[in-house]
Amino acid sequence: MELKKVIGNRRSTRFLRPYKPVERTKIQKMLEAARLASFWGNVQALKAVVIERATAPAEVIAALPVGTAIGGFQFRSAPVVIVWCLDWQAIAVQGDRLHELVEAGALGVDKAQSHAYLDSTLIPFFQSAGERIKTTGFTELDCGQGIAQATLVAFDEGLGTCLLGAMNDRKLRKALKLPDSYKVLVLQTVGYPAEDPGAGGQRPREPFAKRFFLNRYGDSFPADPAVVEELKAAGMLQEPAPVPGRREELDWLGKVFGLSNVFGDEVPAIVKDLTDAAAEDASRNK
Ligand SMILES: Cc1cc2nc3c(=O)[nH]c(=O)nc-3n(C[C@H](O)[C@H](O)[C@H](O)COP(=O)(O)O)c2cc1C
Repeated sequence: MELKKVIGNRRSTRFLRPYKPVERTKIQKMLEAARLASFWGNVQALKAVVIERATAPAEVIAALPVGTAIGGFQFRSAPVVIVWCLDWQAIAVQGDRLHELVEAGALGVDKAQSHAYLDSTLIPFFQSAGERIKTTGFTELDCGQGIAQATLVAFDEGLGTCLLGAMNDRKLRKALKLPDSYKVLVLQTVGYPAEDPGAGGQRPREPFAKRFFLNRYGDSFPADPAVVEELKAAGMLQEPAPVPGRREELDWLGKVFGLSNVFGDEVPAIVKDLTDAAAEDASRNK
């Protein structure tokens, strides 16, 4: 599929067919897309554990979060859940990555001088700035770029996905045996859509003029109507949600998935989870 069309069709898909497995080859393509994404200093801190419902140990499935405030049923029905993580250890070995960039012809002009400059100046600079760099958000942002690329590949492969934040990942970390240097960023459900692939139409977005500026804040970046038409024709800009039939589709999906009429009824279970975790921390710190 053409990239613009993939971007237009990429939509959080909450309803996946639980009975239809996802080919590992498709997951592999998603992971490759994440692997190739840009990263500051070529740090590559984005890591992932793929949970495949059909083959995962029972204790891993049982450790999936009860919910995210609104999407608990998604963890219970998705054939695959990718646990995207940020590995802080990757920053500690960033110097090696910079030397690799010099070797690859991506950093510096003269190879020998560039290696020497890395050792004498740049790597010590990055090491001394390490804690500050961690607070800038660059690393999380780059992980997001990788996840975004994987998401676009998933849609190109006919899959649906939804990113879900997990407020309490304690049980999951333990079940997956994650190293301490791993921070769980987000969980991504993956499967074949049980809802229309359009998922009800393009989700509401603030107007272009309100979000993007030229030369100074407040002066909207001028949008050329011809470009808007071009992007509509390419399938990137689509009909805003809800398209006709969406309400009926939601009613049907709600029955099929056994959902109540509102999202978020797992909130009390999440609160209990968080309270239990806090109590555990408090008794450990006594
Ligand atoms: C980083 C990220 C985290 C998200 N976390 C949650 C979540 O915890 N629970 C949830 O129900 N939806 C979550 N979502 C889905 C968004 O709410 C969804 O993207 C939004 O409704 C817009 O839909 P769209 O992705 O189709 O544009 C998350 C999305 C992103 C990008």
